[in-house]
Amino acid sequence: MSTPGGRHDEWVARDAAVVWHGFTQMAAYAGNAPVMVERAEGRELIDVDGRRFLDAISSLWVTTLGHHVPELDRAVIDQLGRVAHSTMLGNGNRVVVEFAEALAARVPVDDPHLLFASDGAAAVEQALKIAFQYWTNQGVRGRDTYVAFGGAYHGDTVGSLSIGAGGFGTDVFDPLRFPVLRAPGFDDPSCVAAACDLVRENADRLAAVVVEPLVQGAAGIEVCAPEAFPALGQVCRETGVLLICDEVATGFGRTGTLFACQQAGLRPDLLCLGKGITGGYLAQSATVANARVHDAFLGRRPALGPAGQCGVCRPGRAHPAARRRGRADADADHHGGRGRAHRGHPGRGDR
Ligand SMILES: Cc1ncc(COP(=O)(O)O)c(C=O)c1O
Repeated sequence: MSTPGGRHDEWVARDAAVVWHGFTQMAAYAGNAPVMVERAEGRELIDVDGRRFLDAISSLWVTTLGHHVPELDRAVIDQLGRVAHSTMLGNGNRVVVEFAEALAARVPVDDPHLLFASDGAAAVEQALKIAFQYWTNQGVRGRDTYVAFGGAYHGDTVGSLSIGAGGFGTDVFDPLRFPVLRAPGFDDPSCVAAACDLVRENADRLAAVVVEPLVQGAAGIEVCAPEAFPALGQVCRETGVLLICDEVATGFGRTGTLFACQQAGLRPDLLCLGKGITGGYLAQSATVANARVHDAFLGRRPALGPAGQCGVCRPGRAHPAARRRGRADADADHHGGRGRAHRGHPGRGDR
């Protein structure tokens, strides 16, 4: 990967000396010619030697509007002139309110409230805990398991790993996983029907069913027909089992609509968002709860508040890119497509 007079090898050596890369065999890292990014423009990454690379995976599905987007850059700089972070525990922050308002108007969730966190796994973890606590808050015991799908991937915290189906070497954590009821993966056309049966047969011990609507990304972009999903929403309504939709990967236009739930005919009780929520600018995610779930936490005892991840300390951090992102999506949606948000930036994005 080195070029004559280039700095690549030197940076890789410094990198390997102090950085531990996720999902990467560090014994082979330096020898695998890693791209050593220094800056980026539009859809291209530019390395320490000035070489350009097409970021065809949009930095693993997060950079939905491309790199170095003038509006997002300006929004971050503008916000830093106000405040970088303030806690959301018992206090508010103007930019968080503005962002939540923009998003609340667009998510396929009834009367939504947003609990922010730092990454997709944390958003899922929060959803699992909220679903469990939803029942305990009401004095219902024994609803402490979940229906999840084969091939599912929901992140790498212990809870999200538990509802995930394994793979990527995560089998090593099997002793830490809690058991779930497992429907087939999207490679089986009857998977949603099987999940519906599991929900019907086990409703009184289920906190929730968790699904990646339309596409299981990490499973290898396994797709399930949109027509299959409304039955899952229906059986959840009939049995009272909460429906958690994980749109960390599919959200923000990845499947042609702003959210995959819109094509799948689903209105989840809990919706998990991440990745594209800030166009990849900030480590940010959200768990969106409908009124049924949110209102079950209202009461006099402080403990009735949802117990978020440790990232819940941070969501008071400025969300300017996310807020802009919300506006761009709202504009695009309002104008019948995503074109407006991209117009004038020919090098932007991976779509
Ligand atoms: C569907 C889904 N949920 C959750 C996650 C975890 O997100 P994060 O890597 O931000 O923790 C991912 C990551 O790829 C995902 O695809």
